[in-house]
Amino acid sequence: NYYAIIMAGGVGSRFWPLSKANYPKQFHDILGAGETLIERTFGRLSQTVPADHILVLTNENYKALVNEQLPQVRDENIILEPAMRNTAPCILLAALKIYKANPDGVMIVAPSDHWIENESAFLTDLETAFKACETDISEEKLLVTLGIEPTFPHTGYGYIQYASGDATIKNVKAFKEKPDYATAKQFLAAGNYSWNAGIFIWSAKAIIEAFEKYLPELYALFNSGYEDLNTEKEEAFIQAHYEQAENISIDYGILEKSGNVGVIPATFDWSDLGAWAALYDNLEKDAAANVIVNAKTVIRESKGNLIRSEKGKVVVVDGLQDYIVVDSKEVLVIMPKANEQDVKLMRAAVEKKY
Ligand code: GDD
Ligand code: MG
Repeated sequence: NYYAIIMAGGVGSRFWPLSKANYPKQFHDILGAGETLIERTFGRLSQTVPADHILVLTNENYKALVNEQLPQVRDENIILEPAMRNTAPCILLAALKIYKANPDGVMIVAPSDHWIENESAFLTDLETAFKACETDISEEKLLVTLGIEPTFPHTGYGYIQYASGDATIKNVKAFKEKPDYATAKQFLAAGNYSWNAGIFIWSAKAIIEAFEKYLPELYALFNSGYEDLNTEKEEAFIQAHYEQAENISIDYGILEKSGNVGVIPATFDWSDLGAWAALYDNLEKDAAANVIVNAKTVIRESKGNLIRSEKGKVVVVDGLQDYIVVDSKEVLVIMPKANEQDVKLMRAAVEKKY
């Protein structure tokens, strides 16, 4: 009864110049690990979920990339979105598809572009969540989140306030998506808050019922008519209806409102690889705290840098500290790590000028 959906519709614009709208982050080997982020995600999930129960949800522009990188996934398991509508609409479509194939199906919703270390711990948490959802008999059914211990008042994450006690799956008192800085600071000071990893486990039935209750228009738009599985009719239905869907994330649309959310404090190491410095933070450093990805280097009097090359080119660095050096086919970027949030501005400047 286990299923997985991999969300791969995002653009990852902070990983420019590598990640681009026509070739986003999840399809790159960002870590220099020999496989792309979506390949690793598939590999991780397929240890617990049968490969033919893994669905990929992505924009229609990325079909060729998915086919190339995940040839194991048959076309009928790829949902192609004709427009970007954030995560709620595509999750509902996938849940309906799973439910119609198997009304007892339980599913994990997994982003395609995250970094997870210690996969066996992740799989243990996943098994715990799957079992709880399979046996859940609550009136309003359980939605499970995976919680990460927060370390600073990040305003780009969801915050999960949980009940104290030593239950494996803790009862969630409140879910707050992307609080402002002052609120995030209060949450950190209060304790009993986790970051939402953006990975969810629930039964297909549970999430469909939650859509019916909390996003009834979206539910109505997709529920009637999405009948003919694995046929051209399914594609035609998506083409005809998808663009009318409300643009809303699952976090704002469902998790903030649901009355039965649980959280498992993650026992694995996680990063959503939000920007280049996150990559620096999570990879192994040399003696001078430099992180080298795919580059041959000669380095002198330099520390704290992230140096990445696609081509295995020799990079010589002298007297550089706390910089990001990323070489891609068209653009070479050299900027202080502290300025990484400006990468979008720099990209805009490049696009304007060249
Ligand atoms: N198929 C598809 N279609 N996937 C999408 C779409 C879409 O329209 N939009 C986003 N995604 C994918 C992204 O590629 C990413 O893997 C995942 O869905 C989450 O989207 P983000 O845009 O990265 O969300 P976020 O970072 O703002 O916030 C979410 O993740 C945080 C942790 O990384 C939330 O769940 C937060 O609560 C959470 O803390
Ligand atoms: Mg994200």
